[in-house]
Amino acid sequence: MKNTAVIGAQWGDEGKGKVSHFLSGKFDIIARFSGGNNAGHTVIFDGRKVKLHHIPSGIFHKDKINILGSGMVINLAMLLEEMEELKKVGADCENLRIAENAHLIFPFHRLADGRQEEIRKDEMLGTTRRGIGPAYTDKAARCGIRVGDLFFPASFKSRLAKQMEGWKWVMGDSGLSLDSIYQDYLKMGKRIEKYVIDASLFVHEAQKEGKKLLLEGAQGVLLDIDWGTYPYVTSSCCTAAGAAPGLGMDPRRIEHVVGITKAYTTRIGTGPFPTEDHGDVGRQLLAVGAEYGTTTGRARRCGWLDLLMLKFSCRVGAIDSLALTKLDVLTGIDPIKVCTEYVLNGKSVPDFPVIESRLEPCEPLYRELKGWDEDITGIRSFADLPASARSYVKFIEDFCGVPVGIISVGPDRDQTIIKEPAFYS
Ligand code: GDP
Ligand code: IMO
Ligand code: MG
Repeated sequence: MKNTAVIGAQWGDEGKGKVSHFLSGKFDIIARFSGGNNAGHTVIFDGRKVKLHHIPSGIFHKDKINILGSGMVINLAMLLEEMEELKKVGADCENLRIAENAHLIFPFHRLADGRQEEIRKDEMLGTTRRGIGPAYTDKAARCGIRVGDLFFPASFKSRLAKQMEGWKWVMGDSGLSLDSIYQDYLKMGKRIEKYVIDASLFVHEAQKEGKKLLLEGAQGVLLDIDWGTYPYVTSSCCTAAGAAPGLGMDPRRIEHVVGITKAYTTRIGTGPFPTEDHGDVGRQLLAVGAEYGTTTGRARRCGWLDLLMLKFSCRVGAIDSLALTKLDVLTGIDPIKVCTEYVLNGKSVPDFPVIESRLEPCEPLYRELKGWDEDITGIRSFADLPASARSYVKFIEDFCGVPVGIISVGPDRDQTIIKEPAFYS
């Protein structure tokens, strides 16, 4: 097995949870390295739908270690809740590890997230309001508090007091006090202390023993802080490259990057979305694809597959193979459109524009491809897919210059076609 990263190639919710869960059995360590509980990764375990927000999709394998990496921001109360929920479905979380240098989300970060959105008004980002942006802001401003700081009460308290000074303006009459937060976090710290590790040391030692890593990305390339549709992005690195600082691992050991893409496009939150469909097709994708946010329950915006954008993701995300999810949702749509080019003022725009103001006025140009009517949810081999579904996959591969290795035809773990087994063995 190669150390493999699974990253979102669109605006998140591509099915990273499903694909990571599917692949996790082959690896020794499954690690998140970025984001926080803005993520919502759905897996079906023992016939039950489980939503993971911090915890990697390998948690159900008791013999595999699941790490929350240093690049993450962690909401301890929500993490403890998530662990309790997992215990109810048979995952005891004894195989969880938490990087001591991951940053903590505090209640004032959540308040600030909400207030900042109100201030943005018509330029609201549509964040998950989990306090992600403010927590990463404190990290970059060097006034954040990390998991390992909880075990040094005196310095934790004095740093917390200074950190809270910066967020006084959002606290108002929220009732938040230094003492109450300090006491709550000390208590929660005790509950997670046994899981806390030096993630880099752990990963290096494991690699010396030949153990293999699955890096479970969060969000997607187009939500990346540098290469996404800024400012309508999240606050972290969403490509596999983030796993090096976000886990303290050697970047040269990231050996295969799987980019997950839906067979169409969705986006939650605001920001440009050239192929968004406000008509029947958008409504059909929303209904058939059950496109409602895993974390916030918001309806996702839906539209055709944007190949110009996907090609950009493959480049920026250094994607070696694609996993195409939700192909089953396109059944019955004929023709199926894919965007292959943008036009601006009558001129072709051959590459996905990085600057949002350049992207916003672009109009998508489509190619029409033949659809299929057959139910494909029970198909397990590429050869058994209808010819037009195979052509659809081939068109994506040719356009992006990247092979499709996995095709997902339903939410269940086994509703998966491995088209290129060599990539995952
Ligand atoms: P993630 O954030 O990338 O892990 O994706 P989410 O879990 O937020 O959203 C993906 C949704 O699509 C979840 O409800 C999955 O159960 C579902 N899903 C994943 N793959 C497929 C598929 O191939 N077909 C269908 N119909 N649903 C899928
Ligand atoms: P997973 O890992 C989809 C979006 C939000 C908003 C923007 C900024 O499940 O794919 P934030 O709360 O991060 O400051 O919000 O990013 N967003 C996601 N959209 N899937 C996610 O995660 C997302 N995480 C953040 O909707 O537009
Ligand atoms: Mg999600």
